[in-house]
Amino acid sequence: MQGSKVAHDFAQRECTVHASLNHANIVKLYGYTETSTDYVLVMEYAGENCDYLSRKVLRDLSPIKSESLLKLWSTQLLSALAYLHDRGIIHQDIKLENVLLRHPDKSATSTEYEPAEIKLIDFGLCSVIADPSTQMSFMEQKVGTEKYQAPEVASGAWISSAIDVWAFGVLLYELAVGYKPQTLENLVNVNYYQPNKGCVKMPFFQKDWAKREPQLLDLVSRCL
Ligand SMILES: Nc1ncnc2c1ncn2[C@@H]1O[C@H](COP(=O)(O)OP(=O)(O)OP(=O)(O)O)[C@@H](O)[C@H]1O
Ligand SMILES: [Mg+2]
Repeated sequence: MQGSKVAHDFAQRECTVHASLNHANIVKLYGYTETSTDYVLVMEYAGENCDYLSRKVLRDLSPIKSESLLKLWSTQLLSALAYLHDRGIIHQDIKLENVLLRHPDKSATSTEYEPAEIKLIDFGLCSVIADPSTQMSFMEQKVGTEKYQAPEVASGAWISSAIDVWAFGVLLYELAVGYKPQTLENLVNVNYYQPNKGCVKMPFFQKDWAKREPQLLDLVSRCL
């Protein structure tokens, strides 16, 4: 975390915000220290296969087929987001790579299969809402990952927790069909969302969504 004052400010905010959080689906930051060149963070280890979500979907281009796992992970991630947003914190970098899966410890007495648990990481780009009456935060510079960016990030400087909900929608879309909505831009003849050109409808490819529960499509389309 070497570099400019801006990088230093981001690192400092990451540490103070992350250290204040205590939620089952957010990786714990136990402590941190600042040296002359770096910040050193000591955090909960999310376990082996911790990149499962991004590996499964991005490398294999494969959706998560189990509806019950999708429900479980969505519920856990939304619970973590609600916890943050209630405290005026916007994560600003919700994406597959920043969501880990912690596999439960195997115990000799355990006979039942327990699914892995969501752990949200990476508060490096988070912001804190300064004025609770507006619930808006001013973005000093455009940050985040382009394919997950809500329209207002591309077009304006004032943002709210809605940008995390948009990114969650993109993530859930990927888990459900195995690709990001923007990758359909060359395949379907619709006015999909384009940064800098304003917001229009996100494409949903009927062939893939017909296989999923209607409630899942409803949830994703409400986010985007
Ligand atoms: N608590 C953790 N337990 C296990 N692995 C972790 C943990 N935190 C981070 N990782 C691993 O390190 C990677 C990078 O972590 P993180 O996103 O917090 O760092 P970053 O510096 O912001 O990197 P990036 O630029 O890739 O986002 C994660 O994708 C994950 O593989
Ligand atoms: Mg990251």
